Amino acid sequence: MTFHFARRIEHAPASFLGELFRVSADPSIISFAGGLPSSALIDTEGIAEAAKEVFTTDPEVALQYSTTDGYRPLREYIAERYRKRLGIPATADEIQIVNGSQQCLDLFAKIFINPGDRVGMERPGYLGAIEAFSLYEPAFAAVPLDSEGPDPAAFEAMTKKTPVKFFYGIPNSQNPSGCTYSQDRRKAIAECLEGTDTVFYEDDAFGELFFDGKPRLPVKHYLPEQSVISGSFSKITAPGMRIGWMYAPKEILAAFNTAKQAADLHSNFLCQQILARYLATHDLDTHIKKIVAVYGRQCRLMCDLFDDLMPALSHTTPEGGMFLTAKLPAGMPAMDVFRKGIDKKVAVLPGMPFFVDGGGDDTIRLNFSSSDEEKIKEGMNRLASVVNRHS
Ligand SMILES: Cc1ncc(COP(=O)(O)O)c(C=O)c1O
Repeated sequence: MTFHFARRIEHAPASFLGELFRVSADPSIISFAGGLPSSALIDTEGIAEAAKEVFTTDPEVALQYSTTDGYRPLREYIAERYRKRLGIPATADEIQIVNGSQQCLDLFAKIFINPGDRVGMERPGYLGAIEAFSLYEPAFAAVPLDSEGPDPAAFEAMTKKTPVKFFYGIPNSQNPSGCTYSQDRRKAIAECLEGTDTVFYEDDAFGELFFDGKPRLPVKHYLPEQSVISGSFSKITAPGMRIGWMYAPKEILAAFNTAKQAADLHSNFLCQQILARYLATHDLDTHIKKIVAVYGRQCRLMCDLFDDLMPALSHTTPEGGMFLTAKLPAGMPAMDVFRKGIDKKVAVLPGMPFFVDGGGDDTIRLNFSSSDEEKIKEGMNRLASVVNRHS
């Protein structure tokens, strides 16, 4: 028989990532290709204690169905954190709990994109967003990133052409580049969008992971009614709980909530309560300090090893987050570096899937959060033996 799949599934980008991950799953390979937070920095004991308390306090409630918008104490906690950390007047009514911030990408696209609608993206852009949006058949408008954020002239040109439903960006420690928008660029973007019907979608997966511990003001600060922020506990607590949120103006949130209810009724209520209990009984700031100290050291080490061992490559120098991008010299295709890297037992991610309009075969993305310092040293030496032989 023939399976007549919907047209949208044909629009999903051809994924060679499955193959890459299969290859790099070999335990003798040091993988910088993935995107995991450090397992060693998950507070397994603290989360186990919180789980025990939830089960002993009110297990029948904890295991029952719940409301679509999410566990109120958790939403209050998130809103209060915005107020305290960033001085943004968030309220719990503007927060919707989701099944990992990845779900925001799907639901947001579902409520905004008709086939052929224009959606702005960074170039390079987050692969998970490209995949999620593609299923709704948009026309992507890619705006190149420089060291301060989206190129201002290209951004303005994008907004002046046919209307763009929304621009999706990651102002803090972007995935894959590791770049952070400057404060001036955030302001300029807000000014450019003001008065248009284009929403700014700010994916803030890494905003808590600045190595200097200082928060950056989001674009939403300059454009409160025309922007949304997605957030996540994955990088600061535990990704396996799959808890994130959407912070949006009420009109957007109402449509988002309708889509969320149709998709899954609500996010895992048990995990929401365990997380809320954990946050009420543990100091998240102290935990985050530990994470950024480790990631900061690992990032610096990786950058230094690039400079010392592979001077022919240039690389970004992230202020936070989990990723950096390196640019390969002319004549050194990223797929060659990947294949030869696998022979030498080190995996990096070729840049091509991050470019919605082609290109990227002269870049590689590396993750510095999931390998400890010993692994980074060994892996970078292996990588150097690949690229130095090549150049
Ligand atoms: C930029 C970005 N956004 C969203 C996500 C999804 O994270 P989660 O669904 O775990 O919140 C990731 C995961 O790595 C990411 O890198």
